[in-house]
Amino acid sequence: MRKDTQGCAGFCFLPKLLLEPRMLCPLLALRALVLSLAGAIEIQVPDEPVVALFGRDTTLHCSFSPEANFSLNDLSLIWQLTDTKRLVHSFSGGRDQLEDQGGGYANRTALFYDQLAHGNVSLLLRRVEISDEGSFTCFVRVQDHNSAAVTLQVAAPYSKPHMNLEPNKHLKPGDLAAVTCHASRGYPEASVLWQDSQGSNITENITTSQVANEEGLFDVHSVLQVLVEPSSTYSCVVRNPVLQQETQASVTITGQHLAFPAVALWVTVGLAICVVGLLIVLAYVCQKKIRESCEEEEENAGAEEQDEEGGEPKTALQPLKNTESKEDNEQEID
Ligand SMILES: *[C@@H]1O[C@H](CO)[C@@H](O)[C@H](O)[C@H]1NC(C)=O
Ligand SMILES: *[C@@H]1O[C@H](CO)[C@@H](O)[C@H](O)[C@H]1NC(C)=O
Ligand SMILES: *[C@@H]1O[C@H](CO)[C@@H](O)[C@H](O)[C@H]1NC(C)=O
Ligand SMILES: *[C@@H]1O[C@H](CO)[C@@H](O)[C@H](O)[C@H]1NC(C)=O
Ligand SMILES: *[C@@H]1O[C@H](CO)[C@@H](O)[C@H](O)[C@H]1NC(C)=O
Repeated sequence: MRKDTQGCAGFCFLPKLLLEPRMLCPLLALRALVLSLAGAIEIQVPDEPVVALFGRDTTLHCSFSPEANFSLNDLSLIWQLTDTKRLVHSFSGGRDQLEDQGGGYANRTALFYDQLAHGNVSLLLRRVEISDEGSFTCFVRVQDHNSAAVTLQVAAPYSKPHMNLEPNKHLKPGDLAAVTCHASRGYPEASVLWQDSQGSNITENITTSQVANEEGLFDVHSVLQVLVEPSSTYSCVVRNPVLQQETQASVTITGQHLAFPAVALWVTVGLAICVVGLLIVLAYVCQKKIRESCEEEEENAGAEEQDEEGGEPKTALQPLKNTESKEDNEQEID
């Protein structure tokens, strides 16, 4: 506790201290004292920017400590953009005064009416847009007046990235491939980190672009050029710096993406042709052999007529004949 109080003198913006009552901070206490001596109203607003999610509702906190005899009819409240003075919301004479409200805020603002009597003049802003980002001034007048500013930071988490490998077929080790990572609808701009299978950061050959759509949300495209190696994994980590959000996806180049190398392909084709050729030759020889043995049988069966024709055939087949005749001879011997 004591440590925090000391540290606060120099570092009032430390997030930890947001949870502490502001009076803990000596400098602020001094300022409050000066203001109350001067009779001005002390207004409380958050020191840190308020982070609001895109499309959601958010509350811009602002409050003061009213006197005991405070009546709502005495309150004039104006919420306006700090730089352009455009009117966001106003309340006076005990009711909202929205005639001069800036376009784009219609139906998107409200006060916490049951809390006004307690000096709570926080603004409810609905369906936050990217263009709402910036500083809002809370201006309060009762007898005296004062104002303070609240900073709104808009954020949107990025979608889980989609990964793509290009080309994703017929890749050979050593080929150049593009790994694409696409995350969408985030805000503000992301930081993109690529990691390899070992989890080491990849820093080279990366092209990242971030394009805002009509709503102001960013689409992130990051392309990593790699020389293909089998079984390598590439991870893309998309980080939202405001939300501290990290979303990632990865792609693994496996054997499925890798085609046969050209040499292996031709060797395979060549082998296939050889095998088919061999089969054809074999079939031819077999057929021939079967025909020959048929003729042989017919020859053995009888007439010497065939001997004249059979005597002529190619020499290559004659040993077969001879064996068969030997067999015949043996059979005769038996
Ligand atoms: C409320 O009381 C303060 C003093 O405490 C006085 O200055 C102020 O005029 C009063 N306001 C009204 C509206 O009576
Ligand atoms: C605000 O709401 C009113 C009533 O619901 C509607 O008539 C009006 O068109 C709305 N304005 C905008 C800008 O949406
Ligand atoms: C003001 O009202 C809002 C909404 O109810 C609440 O969140 C906030 O804490 C209040 N602020 C103070 C100082 O009471
Ligand atoms: C990779 O880079 C990120 C962001 O630059 C860093 O936080 C992290 O420590 C790095 N990791 C390694 C393993 O170098
Ligand atoms: C980046 O690409 C170039 C050429 O495309 C290549 O020579 C180099 O090795 C690559 N760097 C890394 C770290 O992969």
